Amino acid sequence: MTDQYAVIGNPIAHSKSPLIHAEFARQTGQDLVYSAMLAPLDGFELAIRAFQSDGGKGLNVTVPFKQDAWRLATRRTQRAELAQAVNTLKFDGAEVLGDNTDGAGLVRDVLSNLGFVIRGKRILLMGAGGAARGVILPLLGESPSLLAIANRTPARAHELAQQFAEHGDISSGDYASLAGCHFDLVINATSSSLSNKLPPLPEGVFSTGCLAYDMMYGKGLTPFLQFAQTNGAARLADGLGMLVEQAAESFFLWRGVRPDTLPVMAMLKNS
Ligand code: ATR
Repeated sequence: MTDQYAVIGNPIAHSKSPLIHAEFARQTGQDLVYSAMLAPLDGFELAIRAFQSDGGKGLNVTVPFKQDAWRLATRRTQRAELAQAVNTLKFDGAEVLGDNTDGAGLVRDVLSNLGFVIRGKRILLMGAGGAARGVILPLLGESPSLLAIANRTPARAHELAQQFAEHGDISSGDYASLAGCHFDLVINATSSSLSNKLPPLPEGVFSTGCLAYDMMYGKGLTPFLQFAQTNGAARLADGLGMLVEQAAESFFLWRGVRPDTLPVMAMLKNS
């Protein structure tokens, strides 16, 4: 029987994951189907159990269920444990393995697709919500010289810095505290682009050669990437590469095969 996978969320209609995984499966010759599942806001666990008892092999989990998936997993990878969020579930008998491939997706996009070396560089991570939390450990794994976390509500940034302190050199604060500081990689992990806004970043934060990365993507430049462009960032990237790379990482976890992501990114860019 063909193995069943899906992405589950609410809303889910606009998810690109079915398209991405169908392309991965075609490319690697894997016998699987991947669909989109809308779960009621109060019906996540029920939907998961039904999918599992129907023989489903794995799920991607998206907004707003990543924390519910974390709670439901019977075993978690270290990166999922620290992210306190799960975007990938793998079902194996009674076991529900929870993983988080978001951070690995970001790091792979930055290193492999954009050719940017993180080791020894100064990173600014904007935001202290779930999206930021999910990428901290994989970023620290690349040995930057500093990871600064800035957030509108500084207490949340301090909390994250404290929690990850044993894994690397982290500082934290509000945006005003960045005045006079320069960074080689500036990552927007806030949801501000959704409301077409921009966190109050001081102008001089982009060092010469700086890569500005927005985890959001859409048509044209986000407000953050527009700001970065006019304030000296040398390179700009949106989150489309991260989206495809986190999907590839999930595919690898499920199937043990690594798909070729570049043609899929090109396909999405052109669509
Ligand atoms: P997610 O899971 O997408 O990270 P979240 O947990 O609600 O969502 O976090 C949203 C992040 O975007 C937070 O860091 C939030 O800052 P606060 O903690 O101060 O709320 C940040 N954010 C959202 N809108 C913003 C804006 N207009 N300016 C600055 N930061 C913003």
